[in-house]
Amino acid sequence: MTTLTITRPDDWHLHLRDGDMLTGILPETARDFGRAIIMPNLVPPVVRTTDAIAYRDRIMTALPDGSTFEPLMTLYLTEDTDPADVAAAHASGLIKAVKLYPAGATTNSASGVSDFDKVRPVLEKMAEIGLPLCFHGEVTDADIDIFDREAVFLDRVMDPIRRANPDLKVTLEHVTTKDGVDYVNAAENMGATITTHHLIITRNDILVGGIRPHYYCLPVAKRALHRDALVAAATSGNAKFFLGTDSAPHIDPLKESGCGCAGCFTATNTMSCLAHVFENEGKLENLERFASLNGPAHYGLASNADKITLRKSETPVEFPAKIETGAGPVTVFDPGFPLHWHVAE
Ligand code: DOR
Ligand code: ZN
Repeated sequence: MTTLTITRPDDWHLHLRDGDMLTGILPETARDFGRAIIMPNLVPPVVRTTDAIAYRDRIMTALPDGSTFEPLMTLYLTEDTDPADVAAAHASGLIKAVKLYPAGATTNSASGVSDFDKVRPVLEKMAEIGLPLCFHGEVTDADIDIFDREAVFLDRVMDPIRRANPDLKVTLEHVTTKDGVDYVNAAENMGATITTHHLIITRNDILVGGIRPHYYCLPVAKRALHRDALVAAATSGNAKFFLGTDSAPHIDPLKESGCGCAGCFTATNTMSCLAHVFENEGKLENLERFASLNGPAHYGLASNADKITLRKSETPVEFPAKIETGAGPVTVFDPGFPLHWHVAE
């Protein structure tokens, strides 16, 4: 097969940042994707309805002329979040989800949740109105090994919250482990996003032969058996699993540093990488489910009305190594193999 026409994909987990970075990287997503769930971890975070309205306006202003890309806004859950504000933002159609960061888990998560009892009223309200909760699923305890933080989170945090709120619709963001895949498969009212890079790299890619900071993200990539479980889940067509790139730009000096930031920037070549992974598994026919159909179904939205066509060429497709933004250069994810598929139209 050398061409594949699918419903236009969406990205159910995306970092667009703000200011010059937003302007520089937004075209990379708007080119191929119809919509994206926009992460609220700005500095300061997008906490209230008024913050989300203002951020949405800035995104719309930064869009290239003629683009029909639609940002799907989220609110950042804090221990002071007002259930009535969340309900109003949902009723107006402004937000499609609320994001829960355990305090300290990742980039700009300091205002996240430490005491889960404090957010109980918000979660109850969300369950009542049918608003999904997106989890950054890692514990932050210093004594828990970074490679175990997702599995421990499922036991200690996810399970009690889901048991207390069985009607709450939950998304486990950027699942990175077989434990996570198994948990989601067994759970009611729950889906998971999978990133492009977690379908490709393992922890060896970060650490063997030298530290490769552009492969460092959170949750950190795990050993191959976990990557393989993610590939099996994504390529299976199972409606519980869908694309959330977690494309998370940081300028190169902040990545290539003695204490580098977490995040892989995959917006530019995600569809090419995914086509490669799905073809490798003999599952190209399920790419549309993963990238274009399962996500909208989870969020109760229609899939996009238009299509894209991917083409496979004999010679590898060239992508820029970096996107030069007004904030500085951002390195594009290197899958480590030549890419032959590209979005042709
Ligand atoms: O690698 C990551 N980068 N993981 C996250 O959860 C946050 C993101 C960011 O905002 O840079
Ligand atoms: Zn993220």
